[in-house]
Amino acid sequence: MSENPAPAATPLDPESRQLLEQLAARLPPSALWWASGYLAARAQGVQGAAQGGAGSGVVAALAGNTVLVLTASQTGNARRLGERLRERLATAGHAVRLVSAADVTGKQLAAATTLLAVASTQGEGDPPDEARGLWELLSGRKAPKFQQTPFAIFGLGDSSYPKFCEAGHFLDERFAALGGTRLLARVDADVEYADEAEAWLDAVLAAVPAPVAAMAPVASEPWPSAAGGFAPVTVRQAERDTPREVPVLTAQPIVAKAAGRAVLHYELEGGPDFAYEPGDSLGIWPLNPPVVVARVKAQLADAPSLVTRGKLERPLEEWLTEHLEITRVARPFLEAQAARSGAAELQALLAKTPEAAVRLQSFMAGVNVAAVLEQFPVAAGQAWRAAELFAVLRPLAPRLYSIASSRKAVGDEVHLTVAEVEAGAASTHLWRRGTDGGVVRAYIERNEHFRLPADTSRDVIMIGPGTGVAPFRAFVQDRAETGANGRHWLFFGARHFDSEFLYQLEWQQALKDGRLNRLDLAFSRDQPTKIYVQQRLRERAADLWQWLEGGASVYVCGDATHMAPDVHAALLEVAQSAGGLDAAAAEIWLSGLATSKRYLRDVY
Ligand SMILES: Cc1cc2nc3c(=O)[nH]c(=O)nc-3n(C[C@H](O)[C@H](O)[C@H](O)COP(=O)(O)OP(=O)(O)OC[C@H]3O[C@@H](n4cnc5c(N)ncnc54)[C@H](O)[C@@H]3O)c2cc1C
Ligand SMILES: Cc1cc2nc3c(=O)[nH]c(=O)nc-3n(C[C@H](O)[C@H](O)[C@H](O)COP(=O)(O)O)c2cc1C
Repeated sequence: MSENPAPAATPLDPESRQLLEQLAARLPPSALWWASGYLAARAQGVQGAAQGGAGSGVVAALAGNTVLVLTASQTGNARRLGERLRERLATAGHAVRLVSAADVTGKQLAAATTLLAVASTQGEGDPPDEARGLWELLSGRKAPKFQQTPFAIFGLGDSSYPKFCEAGHFLDERFAALGGTRLLARVDADVEYADEAEAWLDAVLAAVPAPVAAMAPVASEPWPSAAGGFAPVTVRQAERDTPREVPVLTAQPIVAKAAGRAVLHYELEGGPDFAYEPGDSLGIWPLNPPVVVARVKAQLADAPSLVTRGKLERPLEEWLTEHLEITRVARPFLEAQAARSGAAELQALLAKTPEAAVRLQSFMAGVNVAAVLEQFPVAAGQAWRAAELFAVLRPLAPRLYSIASSRKAVGDEVHLTVAEVEAGAASTHLWRRGTDGGVVRAYIERNEHFRLPADTSRDVIMIGPGTGVAPFRAFVQDRAETGANGRHWLFFGARHFDSEFLYQLEWQQALKDGRLNRLDLAFSRDQPTKIYVQQRLRERAADLWQWLEGGASVYVCGDATHMAPDVHAALLEVAQSAGGLDAAAAEIWLSGLATSKRYLRDVY
């Protein structure tokens, strides 16, 4: 029975009243607010929205008093913060919409009465993949015009990158240029952003105009469904912070160490409620390699049993093994070590020039905390005390791995394809747990923007060299299980056919039994001139164009630095050579393909 039963004098018949009370008793406050808006919108005849259709109904409803929370996220941090903001605002009685950058339209932005955005930066100052279309919209002639809409931006980034929080800067500048008014100063938050995020949530709650009790929920009709043009960002449990212990069942090398770099196929026991879809990733909280922990400990001036960092006190060993990044280095630590050691080489790398920034990135990719401590020693008597060093190290972050299986085919298991990184935290942790039969702490990181087409008759083109092939194993398994009649075309590449053709037998079998229709391979080092998947795309331009004109979706997964931009350029060339478009038209075509969610990338 609800604590707040519907008043006795209602226009409801007894059965409807009982149903309403049962429903209300089950819902948390935010859902009650949402439901009240939904019902009010129904009453007001906002039919399109109430029935889940896109268009004017939504815009009309937004014209009420709606706070729009926009997220632009690659690996989930911005999305999770957006979800928390939505919850806080809804609980405070605001009519609030949460929408991802992939789904938002100019009309919805223009119709919001307050705009709050959380955006991470990727690549070299780029927006997350899902926000590429929005960036084009906001930069172009069709950008929405704001009527002094109050807005606030929370940028997520990493100060080790030269273009720190560039995506947040872009949104802040564009929203202002398009007529918005800053409600709060932009926040550029570094990797350890929890405290700043809390402060920002409080500031937003204080700054957003108070909801008008009678009016606010009216605007809370549901967002249209994906079929109507965009989907809501669904609220999930904070799985990242409540990981599950997942047993590692199998660790099978599929590329020999002799090839220079081991790649392993892992099978983990997810369990019946560890639900995932093709396109999702598994997040793994690693334990740092014992050898790196020992090397860092050896550099410390003291060895207290307990060490305080921020508000937390923990055993020294636990900090180093479970809570701090020691296999990756970041700028704050390097700056502190440069100051303490006085090493001119390290100081030069940290110079704020574009040339130094390039050198710093490549330096950081090849060292860990232990190596830096050893390579740039401090003078006698200057050695780090544990608490001092820990204060400048970053908190350990989980690593993501594309899931290489479909639950429809493998039941409760989760399969991964992992390239072992020397002294890497997660890849070596997985290997240790794979050999000792232990567990890893893991969670599902959903990726709604890397999904198979809902229409199973659509053709699918998959470009996944190296470990980028992982999600496509899941795609092909899934489509076979659902009896999809669309065709499948895989582009795979690696260095050598003999040693690095990941899942070779599976692909050959899939070709034989028709689960895979075409397979194009590029082994870069098997001939004097290097060949990559992008060259295969150019060679197959005519057929590719035909598939794409027939409605195929194209998916790209794997290396973000070289492969993804090269594949992008090759697709533009295909549109020109086979589609007869000029360069400008090809750009418009490819961005249209992305906007219509037929060109999807999951690159890292
Ligand atoms: C969405 C997403 C999906 C991903 N899917 C996969 C996947 O399916 N399979 C897969 O193998 N990886 C995948 N990754 C990469 C993965 O998350 C880790 O970054 C990678 O395994 C390295 O983690 P680590 O903890 O072992 O190494 P870290 O401890 O992070 O790094 C140790 C050192 O190695 C360097 N390093 C890191 N990665 C590499 C590398 N690839 N080559 C050389 N040096 C490196 C670092 O700069 C550092 O100096 C994915 C990443 C994302 C964001
Ligand atoms: C491949 C890669 C590139 C990145 N590039 C930048 C960058 O150029 N500037 C920056 O400030 N942060 C950069 N970051 C850091 C992310 O913005 C940061 O980790 C953020 O918390 C991710 O949020 P998300 O999970 O919502 O995507 C990068 C991270 C990755 C993995």
